[in-house]
Amino acid sequence: MLQEFQRIDLSDRTSFHVGARAARLAEVETVDDLRALFAGGVPGQWMVLAGGNNILFTHDYEGLLVVPVARRIEVLRETGDRVTVGVDAGVEWDDLVAWAVDRELWGIENLSLIPGRAGAAPVQNIGAYGCEAGDVIERVHMYCVESDSLLTLDAAHCGFGYRESVFKGALRGRVVITRIEVGLSRTPQPRLCYGDVEREVEARGGVTLHNIREAICSIRRTKLPDTAVMGNAGSFFKNPVVSETEAARLRMTFPDMPCYPLADGGVKLAAGWLIDQTGLKGYRDGRVGVHERQALVLVNLGGATGAEVLALARKVQAAVREKFGVEIDTEVNIL
Ligand code: EPU
Repeated sequence: MLQEFQRIDLSDRTSFHVGARAARLAEVETVDDLRALFAGGVPGQWMVLAGGNNILFTHDYEGLLVVPVARRIEVLRETGDRVTVGVDAGVEWDDLVAWAVDRELWGIENLSLIPGRAGAAPVQNIGAYGCEAGDVIERVHMYCVESDSLLTLDAAHCGFGYRESVFKGALRGRVVITRIEVGLSRTPQPRLCYGDVEREVEARGGVTLHNIREAICSIRRTKLPDTAVMGNAGSFFKNPVVSETEAARLRMTFPDMPCYPLADGGVKLAAGWLIDQTGLKGYRDGRVGVHERQALVLVNLGGATGAEVLALARKVQAAVREKFGVEIDTEVNIL
């Protein structure tokens, strides 16, 4: 059912919980709802708002926010040990992970507890602990607003990269993702090589799907603040990628600096480590701060505005630039 709201408060619709209003907001369940919504023409300013976990409003939004709310999860196909699951855009990502783990289906357990909705997962290609949504997404279904038509893209055409996809590029502002298809496996395929994962899994009695999920949830709960308690959007910055030469130059001065060589020759650095080294971890400025256990996360300590969070973000970027000569881009969308 299509439900429309006018001049609606967004503070409980984003994980930063900053005060802002939207001129219009529409919750849509079906493609017919989308058709009805855009029947009178495409508004000058509109965008999709999913769980609001990766967005910072620095002022009121004068356009239309479209919120997909359909929440079905269903098995579409089974071929050998491969099970393809259809997931509506409005499903909470972690509900999908719990659903898969309960059915002994492997592939997304390392993505446990990532806040957000399934429809948003392909947009920034969510990732954690050595796994990305793009590794398991087989297809993405969407409604094209300008042409009033439906489009399905295979994963190969989604342009998945580190926190990147075609939905952030050429298709930005043109489509509403309605459903994704996720390919899971009945054959165990544990990925434990990232950080403390293996140790935490062993501590729980060994490699089972359930233990991996529990281990990942526990690691995340230790490092990342709960958005219900303290407004935040997970990693505020992306890990920067620099050239091999640049990484070697930095390592001369900072021999302990974490470096992750990429297949294309670039080197990914840890933005959290870089920020930590500037001394800003745990820093507070009025109602905003840098989280004390994970420097990548900026937090609303209570009642902050989006502009205050943004000012802190600029300060953090400047500190990293000054100390390392490295630019760190924001992962969060800033409006
Ligand atoms: N580090 C520090 N200080 C900090 C944070 C990190 O020294 O305050 C160091 C760590 O010790 C480690 C390195 O930096 O050597 C990397 O840290 P970590 O393994 O915790 O991961 P990350 O690079 O900080 C990324 C994702 C997270 C994801 C984790 C686990 C990005 C921007 N962030 O963080 O994703 O959960 O890996 O896979 O890629 C998110 O996107 O919202 C998010 C939380």
